[in-house]
Amino acid sequence: METKPLKISLFFAHDYIESELILKDKNVVVIDVLRTSATMLTGLNNGAKEIIPTESIAAAGMIGRNSEGHALLCGEKNAKLIEGFNLGNSVKEYSEENVKGRILVFHSTNGTPSLMKSKFASNCILASFLNMERVVNYLHELNEDFIVLCAGKNGEFSLEDTVCAGMLVSRLRKHDSKNKYILTDSSLGAAMLYSAYKNDLLKMMNDSEHGQYLVSLGFGDDLFACAEVDKYNLLPVLKNGVIKSIEAFASDPKLKMKKVSQKSVS
Ligand code: MLT
Repeated sequence: METKPLKISLFFAHDYIESELILKDKNVVVIDVLRTSATMLTGLNNGAKEIIPTESIAAAGMIGRNSEGHALLCGEKNAKLIEGFNLGNSVKEYSEENVKGRILVFHSTNGTPSLMKSKFASNCILASFLNMERVVNYLHELNEDFIVLCAGKNGEFSLEDTVCAGMLVSRLRKHDSKNKYILTDSSLGAAMLYSAYKNDLLKMMNDSEHGQYLVSLGFGDDLFACAEVDKYNLLPVLKNGVIKSIEAFASDPKLKMKKVSQKSVS
């Protein structure tokens, strides 16, 4: 029986999503290559209990203050450490020593707004170069239409996010037969852009506006750290307002449906 091809859509920046309802009940892949995807992945890999993305710096501060010291305030504003926060958004800050067992209350310029807009998605995962193969395998198994949401940079197209999305599309099309997927112009364009940079991702990072801005601030190491393809076999999932690995959610007793008693209610 002929199966219906799956549609891959793509938004170049979260600002294209004017209402969270656009993503309601959809499958969403959030990509913020420099640097939120990488810092969140690294934090979870190094033992962070969970990550709470927030709408604003004030909201993050409120949650952090009410956490009785269990939470770390993490993130950046225009790539710089936010006053009063514990960690900025450099990958090396998310070491086991700093994050193991802690709740990371997070706010970043484009990454967390992208996640917040995905809160009504039926499935929302976080992707980057660092966990690409795991994301490809997950989407192959999911076998449904999905939307790639590039964080972008202040409402503009982001070279690094789009090239990463292009790698995802290209790998999936290689993984499966090409006609399994219908691509929109934006997802096809991302795949074509990836083919231009696939042999030198670091060059792409240094060509990008945000990459150059990070270098100018002394965060050049982050370009290397965020370009490490398939470093982690980890799939961060956003569910009920928090981000954990898909395995952590699967083993969370609170999320297991309560067995309905077979006794009839008298
Ligand atoms: C963002 O959210 O725009 C990025 O993560 C910014 C950064 O970390 O430099």
